[in-house]
Amino acid sequence: NLLDHRPKPLAGKTIVMTSGPTHEAIDPVRYIANRSSGKQGHAIAAALVRLGATVRLVSGPVTIPDPEGVDVIHVESACEMRDAVEQLLPADAAVMVAAVADWRTANEAGEKIKKQPGKKAPALQMVENPDILAGVGHSTLRPRLVVGFAAETQDLLANARKKLDKKGADWIVANDVSHATGVMGGDRNAVRIVTRSGVEEWPDMSKDEVAERLASKIAEALQTVDV
Ligand code: CTP
Ligand code: CA
Repeated sequence: NLLDHRPKPLAGKTIVMTSGPTHEAIDPVRYIANRSSGKQGHAIAAALVRLGATVRLVSGPVTIPDPEGVDVIHVESACEMRDAVEQLLPADAAVMVAAVADWRTANEAGEKIKKQPGKKAPALQMVENPDILAGVGHSTLRPRLVVGFAAETQDLLANARKKLDKKGADWIVANDVSHATGVMGGDRNAVRIVTRSGVEEWPDMSKDEVAERLASKIAEALQTVDV
Protein backbone atom coordinates (compact mmCIF):
# COMPACT_ATOMS: atom_id res chain seq x y z
CA ASN A 1 0.00 0.00 0.00
CA LEU A 2 1.69 3.17 -1.25
CA LEU A 3 -0.18 5.35 1.24
CA ASP A 4 1.03 3.40 4.24
CA HIS A 5 4.18 5.12 5.44
CA ARG A 6 4.18 3.74 8.96
CA PRO A 7 7.45 2.25 10.20
CA LYS A 8 8.01 -1.41 9.33
CA PRO A 9 9.39 -3.02 12.49
CA LEU A 10 8.98 -6.51 11.03
CA ALA A 11 10.86 -5.81 7.77
CA GLY A 12 13.12 -8.77 6.96
CA LYS A 13 11.25 -11.11 9.33
CA THR A 14 9.51 -14.26 8.13
CA ILE A 15 6.46 -15.52 9.99
CA VAL A 16 4.75 -18.88 9.49
CA MET A 17 1.05 -19.03 10.29
CA THR A 18 -1.94 -21.37 10.27
CA SER A 19 -5.56 -20.24 10.16
CA GLY A 20 -9.05 -21.58 9.57
CA PRO A 21 -10.50 -25.01 10.25
CA THR A 22 -9.40 -28.30 8.76
CA HIS A 23 -11.67 -30.74 6.96
CA GLU A 24 -11.25 -34.43 7.62
CA ALA A 25 -12.71 -36.60 4.89
CA ILE A 26 -15.15 -39.40 5.62
CA ASP A 27 -15.60 -40.31 1.96
CA PRO A 28 -15.28 -38.35 -1.32
CA VAL A 29 -18.35 -36.21 -0.52
CA ARG A 30 -18.41 -35.93 3.27
CA TYR A 31 -16.13 -34.46 5.90
CA ILE A 32 -15.86 -33.47 9.56
CA ALA A 33 -15.33 -29.75 10.16
CA ASN A 34 -15.63 -27.09 12.87
CA ARG A 35 -16.99 -23.53 13.19
CA SER A 36 -13.71 -21.66 12.63
CA SER A 37 -14.07 -18.92 9.98
CA GLY A 38 -10.37 -18.02 9.71
CA LYS A 39 -11.23 -14.38 10.47
CA GLN A 40 -8.89 -14.01 13.44
CA GLY A 41 -5.93 -15.79 11.86
CA HIS A 42 -6.29 -14.03 8.52
CA ALA A 43 -6.56 -10.65 10.28
CA ILE A 44 -3.33 -11.36 12.17
CA ALA A 45 -1.57 -12.31 8.93
CA ALA A 46 -2.66 -9.03 7.32
CA ALA A 47 -1.59 -7.00 10.37
CA LEU A 48 1.87 -8.63 10.39
CA VAL A 49 2.30 -7.80 6.69
CA ARG A 50 1.37 -4.17 7.39
CA LEU A 51 4.28 -4.12 9.87
CA GLY A 52 6.62 -5.32 7.12
CA ALA A 53 6.79 -9.09 7.77
CA THR A 54 6.90 -11.75 5.09
CA VAL A 55 3.96 -13.95 6.09
CA ARG A 56 3.49 -17.52 4.86
CA LEU A 57 0.00 -18.61 5.81
CA VAL A 58 -1.24 -22.19 5.65
CA SER A 59 -5.01 -21.89 5.52
CA GLY A 60 -7.66 -24.54 5.92
CA PRO A 61 -10.89 -24.24 3.90
CA VAL A 62 -12.40 -20.78 4.51
CA THR A 63 -14.84 -18.58 2.61
CA ILE A 64 -13.00 -15.29 3.30
CA PRO A 65 -10.47 -13.95 0.78
CA ASP A 66 -6.71 -14.40 1.11
CA PRO A 67 -5.32 -11.55 3.24
CA GLU A 68 -3.59 -8.83 1.23
CA GLY A 69 0.14 -9.26 0.75
CA VAL A 70 0.26 -12.73 2.32
CA ASP A 71 1.61 -15.90 0.65
CA VAL A 72 -1.23 -18.37 1.18
CA ILE A 73 -1.02 -22.14 0.87
CA HIS A 74 -4.47 -23.73 0.82
CA VAL A 75 -4.93 -27.13 2.43
CA GLU A 76 -7.85 -29.26 3.58
CA SER A 77 -6.77 -31.66 6.29
CA ALA A 78 -4.61 -31.48 9.41
CA CYS A 79 -2.02 -33.81 7.87
CA GLU A 80 -1.75 -31.56 4.79
CA MET A 81 -1.46 -28.52 7.08
CA ARG A 82 1.34 -30.18 9.07
CA ASP A 83 3.26 -31.08 5.89
CA ALA A 84 2.93 -27.53 4.54
CA VAL A 85 4.08 -25.94 7.81
CA GLU A 86 7.14 -28.21 7.99
CA GLN A 87 8.19 -26.99 4.54
CA LEU A 88 8.08 -23.38 5.74
CA LEU A 89 10.60 -23.67 8.59
CA PRO A 90 12.94 -22.05 9.52
CA ALA A 91 11.19 -18.76 10.29
CA ASP A 92 11.55 -15.96 12.83
CA ALA A 93 8.15 -16.59 14.38
CA ALA A 94 5.21 -18.97 14.16
CA VAL A 95 1.63 -17.98 14.93
CA MET A 96 -0.69 -20.98 14.92
CA VAL A 97 -4.29 -19.90 14.90
CA ALA A 98 -5.94 -22.76 13.00
CA ALA A 99 -8.70 -24.77 14.64
CA VAL A 100 -7.02 -28.02 13.65
CA ALA A 101 -9.34 -31.01 13.86
CA ASP A 102 -8.18 -33.12 16.79
CA TRP A 103 -9.17 -36.35 15.05
CA ARG A 104 -9.47 -37.63 11.52
CA THR A 105 -11.29 -40.68 10.28
CA ALA A 106 -9.22 -43.85 10.65
CA ASN A 107 -10.18 -45.15 7.24
CA GLU A 108 -11.39 -42.63 4.69
CA ALA A 109 -13.66 -44.46 2.24
CA GLY A 110 -12.52 -44.31 -1.39
CA GLU A 111 -16.10 -44.37 -2.66
CA LYS A 112 -19.22 -42.64 -1.40
CA ILE A 113 -20.69 -44.65 1.46
CA LYS A 114 -24.16 -45.85 0.41
CA LYS A 115 -27.25 -46.61 2.45
CA GLN A 116 -28.32 -50.21 2.21
CA PRO A 117 -31.71 -51.54 3.24
CA GLY A 118 -31.45 -53.23 6.63
CA LYS A 119 -27.84 -52.13 7.20
CA LYS A 120 -26.93 -50.16 10.35
CA ALA A 121 -25.71 -46.55 10.21
CA PRO A 122 -21.95 -46.49 9.72
CA ALA A 123 -19.80 -45.93 12.84
CA LEU A 124 -16.93 -43.49 12.45
CA GLN A 125 -13.53 -44.69 13.65
CA MET A 126 -11.26 -41.78 14.53
CA VAL A 127 -7.52 -41.39 15.12
CA GLU A 128 -5.71 -38.42 16.63
CA ASN A 129 -4.19 -35.84 14.29
CA PRO A 130 -0.61 -34.57 14.62
CA ASP A 131 -0.25 -31.50 16.86
CA ILE A 132 1.16 -28.94 14.44
CA LEU A 133 1.91 -26.28 17.06
CA ALA A 134 3.70 -28.78 19.33
CA GLY A 135 5.68 -29.99 16.32
CA VAL A 136 6.89 -26.44 15.66
CA GLY A 137 7.42 -25.65 19.37
CA HIS A 138 9.64 -28.70 19.82
CA SER A 139 11.31 -28.59 16.40
CA THR A 140 15.08 -28.37 15.93
CA LEU A 141 14.12 -25.49 13.60
CA ARG A 142 12.01 -23.82 16.28
CA PRO A 143 11.31 -20.14 15.52
CA ARG A 144 12.47 -17.64 18.14
CA LEU A 145 8.87 -16.78 19.00
CA VAL A 146 6.11 -19.41 18.95
CA VAL A 147 2.53 -18.27 19.54
CA GLY A 148 -0.45 -20.57 19.87
CA PHE A 149 -4.14 -20.10 20.60
CA ALA A 150 -6.27 -21.98 23.09
CA ALA A 151 -9.94 -22.43 22.38
CA GLU A 152 -11.65 -23.27 25.64
CA THR A 153 -15.16 -23.48 27.02
CA GLN A 154 -14.05 -23.96 30.66
CA ASP A 155 -11.01 -23.45 32.96
CA LEU A 156 -9.58 -21.01 30.41
CA LEU A 157 -6.38 -19.97 32.17
CA ALA A 158 -5.43 -23.33 33.66
CA ASN A 159 -5.90 -25.02 30.30
CA ALA A 160 -3.99 -22.29 28.47
CA ARG A 161 -1.04 -22.63 30.87
CA LYS A 162 -0.93 -26.38 30.30
CA LYS A 163 -0.87 -25.81 26.54
CA LEU A 164 2.03 -23.37 26.90
CA ASP A 165 4.24 -26.11 28.30
CA LYS A 166 2.92 -29.08 26.36
CA LYS A 167 3.33 -27.33 23.03
CA GLY A 168 6.61 -25.53 23.70
CA ALA A 169 4.97 -22.17 22.98
CA ASP A 170 6.07 -18.76 24.27
CA TRP A 171 2.59 -17.27 24.33
CA ILE A 172 -0.88 -18.75 24.27
CA VAL A 173 -3.70 -16.46 23.20
CA ALA A 174 -6.59 -17.87 25.20
CA ASN A 175 -10.15 -17.35 24.05
CA ASP A 176 -13.47 -18.50 25.41
CA VAL A 177 -15.30 -20.21 22.57
CA SER A 178 -18.45 -21.07 24.53
CA HIS A 179 -21.36 -20.90 22.15
CA ALA A 180 -22.88 -17.82 23.83
CA THR A 181 -19.70 -15.75 23.26
CA GLY A 182 -20.14 -15.97 19.49
CA VAL A 183 -16.35 -15.95 19.06
CA MET A 184 -16.23 -18.82 16.60
CA GLY A 185 -17.43 -17.41 13.30
CA GLY A 186 -18.09 -13.97 14.83
CA ASP A 187 -16.27 -10.62 14.46
CA ARG A 188 -15.28 -9.96 18.07
CA ASN A 189 -12.91 -11.58 20.51
CA ALA A 190 -11.91 -11.14 24.16
CA VAL A 191 -8.54 -12.78 24.72
CA ARG A 192 -5.90 -13.23 27.38
CA ILE A 193 -2.25 -13.54 26.52
CA VAL A 194 -0.74 -16.25 28.70
CA THR A 195 3.05 -16.26 28.97
CA ARG A 196 5.52 -17.76 31.45
CA SER A 197 5.71 -14.38 33.17
CA GLY A 198 1.98 -13.85 33.61
CA VAL A 199 -1.36 -13.11 32.00
CA GLU A 200 -2.45 -10.02 30.06
CA GLU A 201 -6.18 -9.56 29.89
CA TRP A 202 -7.37 -7.69 26.80
CA PRO A 203 -10.86 -6.19 26.68
CA ASP A 204 -13.47 -7.35 24.21
CA MET A 205 -12.60 -5.85 20.80
CA SER A 206 -12.95 -6.61 17.12
CA LYS A 207 -10.85 -9.43 15.66
CA ASP A 208 -9.08 -6.76 13.57
CA GLU A 209 -8.14 -4.87 16.75
CA VAL A 210 -6.89 -8.08 18.39
CA ALA A 211 -4.82 -8.66 15.25
CA GLU A 212 -3.29 -5.15 15.33
CA ARG A 213 -2.38 -5.44 18.98
CA LEU A 214 -0.96 -8.92 18.67
CA ALA A 215 1.10 -7.94 15.62
CA SER A 216 2.58 -4.98 17.57
CA LYS A 217 3.39 -7.24 20.49
CA ILE A 218 5.09 -9.71 18.14
CA ALA A 219 7.09 -6.89 16.54
CA GLU A 220 8.21 -5.70 19.97
CA ALA A 221 9.23 -9.23 20.99
CA LEU A 222 11.24 -9.85 17.82
CA GLN A 223 13.10 -6.57 18.27
CA THR A 224 14.41 -7.62 21.67
CA VAL A 225 17.36 -9.97 21.93
CA ASP A 226 15.62 -12.57 24.03
CA VAL A 227 11.86 -13.26 23.95
N1 CTP B 1 -3.12 -27.15 17.35
C1 CTP B 1 -2.34 -27.68 16.34
N2 CTP B 1 -2.53 -28.96 15.93
C2 CTP B 1 -3.49 -29.73 16.50
C3 CTP B 1 -4.30 -29.19 17.52
C4 CTP B 1 -4.09 -27.90 17.92
O1 CTP B 1 -1.45 -26.98 15.83
N3 CTP B 1 -3.64 -30.97 16.08
C5 CTP B 1 -2.86 -25.78 17.80
C6 CTP B 1 -3.95 -24.77 17.49
O2 CTP B 1 -3.69 -24.14 16.24
C7 CTP B 1 -3.81 -23.79 18.65
C8 CTP B 1 -3.33 -24.66 19.79
O3 CTP B 1 -2.75 -25.81 19.19
O4 CTP B 1 -2.81 -22.83 18.40
C9 CTP B 1 -4.38 -25.10 20.78
O5 CTP B 1 -5.46 -25.68 20.11
P1 CTP B 1 -6.64 -26.27 21.00
O6 CTP B 1 -7.62 -26.93 20.12
O7 CTP B 1 -7.12 -25.18 21.93
O8 CTP B 1 -5.85 -27.32 21.90
P2 CTP B 1 -5.60 -28.88 21.80
O9 CTP B 1 -4.14 -29.09 22.09
O10 CTP B 1 -6.10 -29.43 20.53
O11 CTP B 1 -6.41 -29.46 23.03
P3 CTP B 1 -8.01 -29.58 23.22
O12 CTP B 1 -8.70 -29.24 21.92
O13 CTP B 1 -8.22 -30.99 23.64
O14 CTP B 1 -8.35 -28.57 24.29
CA1 CA C 1 -8.21 -29.03 19.72
